[in-house]
Amino acid sequence: MTQSDFRIAFVGGGNMGGSILSGLLDSGAPADEFMLIEPDESKRQAFSAHGVACVGEADARLFSAEMVLFAVKPQVMGQVVAGLREHLCVEHLIVSVVAGVSSSSIARMVGFESAVVRAMPNVPALYRAGAAGLFANAKVSAAQRRLAEQMLAVVCDTEWFEDEALIDTVTAISGSGPAYFFYMMEVMQSEAEALGMGADAARHLVAATAYGAGLMVKRSDTDFSELRRMVTSPKGTTEAAITTFESEGVREALSKGIQSSWQRSQELGA
Ligand SMILES: NC(=O)c1ccc[n+]([C@@H]2O[C@H](COP(=O)([O-])OP(=O)(O)OC[C@H]3O[C@@H](n4cnc5c(N)ncnc54)[C@H](OP(=O)(O)O)[C@@H]3O)[C@@H](O)[C@H]2O)c1
Repeated sequence: MTQSDFRIAFVGGGNMGGSILSGLLDSGAPADEFMLIEPDESKRQAFSAHGVACVGEADARLFSAEMVLFAVKPQVMGQVVAGLREHLCVEHLIVSVVAGVSSSSIARMVGFESAVVRAMPNVPALYRAGAAGLFANAKVSAAQRRLAEQMLAVVCDTEWFEDEALIDTVTAISGSGPAYFFYMMEVMQSEAEALGMGADAARHLVAATAYGAGLMVKRSDTDFSELRRMVTSPKGTTEAAITTFESEGVREALSKGIQSSWQRSQELGA
């Protein structure tokens, strides 16, 4: 690698771009492999301090990057790509975590048939505990797939999909998913309080329960339904709750909610 050769150029060093870059640096990747293009000076300074080459606007050094990762807001994506298009070339792997912008739209913005990986991570990626669905267009080589996956793996568990339409499903499941669990936790906390528990104790117990349940599913291959049965003794307290959920239509309501999220993702993408 020559001095100006970068492995990854980050376009946008906010929540998502910044988390991935921090994750790579923390995992021991050399800072001189990265370039950050970011208009916000304070974000540039934070990464310059670690030895990352930070610039406010793209320059010719972008040509030497293997991968260009776009982590900007969807509404500015077109304008951002237009601003640095002259520094993009067909050898670049373009990776985008930008919600709702398809790989063909990205190739159109870039202006030539580029290798594009689209990734949909979720909010826990900020704590390196995210889940991301990935899609590669036909121009992406096996080596480029590995590079994209290695990069995202520092903040997310990853899953590849061969059909880009499934990115809308990823959005409805893991993208919006953390909020479904938070919703359940809101209900649990408010019921604990209604039944006499203090707010702090309720929050503490709900958070520890959610964390413990997450750990159980991560550390075992047992089906979710089987795990549920394991904590549901016949005629016991958990069974009383689950029977009520089922008779009140909670399962159907959750299914419909997930379908609404999927539909909304398609509408926003269009
Ligand atoms: N956050 C998540 O959990 C999450 C999950 C899934 C997908 N995503 C996707 O990730 C993308 C980024 O989200 P985010 O939460 O990281 O947003 P963010 O924190 O606002 O980060 C975007 C960054 O891009 C910078 N930027 C603006 N114009 C630029 C330009 N011309 N060149 C380079 N950088 C520029 C912004 O700088 P300024 O602040 O100065 O404008 C900001 O630092 C979005 O498209 C979102 O859909 C995010």
